[in-house]
Amino acid sequence: MNLKEYVSEVQDWPKKGVSFKDITTIMDNGEAYGYATDQIVEFAREKEVDIVVGPEARGFIIGCPVAYSMGIGFAPVRKAGKLPREVIEYEYDLEYGSNTLAMHKDAIKPGQRVLITDDLLATGGTIVATIKLVEALGGIVAGIAFLIELEYLGGRKLLEGYDAISLISYD
Ligand code: PRP
Repeated sequence: MNLKEYVSEVQDWPKKGVSFKDITTIMDNGEAYGYATDQIVEFAREKEVDIVVGPEARGFIIGCPVAYSMGIGFAPVRKAGKLPREVIEYEYDLEYGSNTLAMHKDAIKPGQRVLITDDLLATGGTIVATIKLVEALGGIVAGIAFLIELEYLGGRKLLEGYDAISLISYD
């Protein structure tokens, strides 16, 4: 299956000059969504992962069906102030300003092998923050899986030493 055919490219959204990659047309197609999930499950099985971690909101869309399919858990990475119990936080810079992501301190047990999922690798800021949180909790990042990679934004150079796959690439 050529998954790229199921992505809707929206020109000049959210602002002029941007070609937005809308994944809702993968999600609302059971065959395409299932196929994408199965590809990531196959990768995760090879990596012998114990738990899936993904950043809100679209990292959940990719990671939760993978976790369910494997019979393992999913731990969310959320924007600051959203998780009710004790958290660790990681702040990172955006083009303008900064963002803080958080995880519950007990979400991962030290030594657990973690699959990180997200819909998109763009500049890489979100995924690096997620890696930092997982590692700060003692997790081992066994693999990283994206639905889409925007190669021209160069996020992959931040992932040296990690095993990262993307199902769809734009160069
Ligand atoms: C988007 C996307 C990735 C991130 C990729 O999330 O879902 O998580 O940006 O960009 P980066 O590689 O430059 O960090 P967004 O922050 O828009 O949040 P959302 O999923 O809640 O819409």
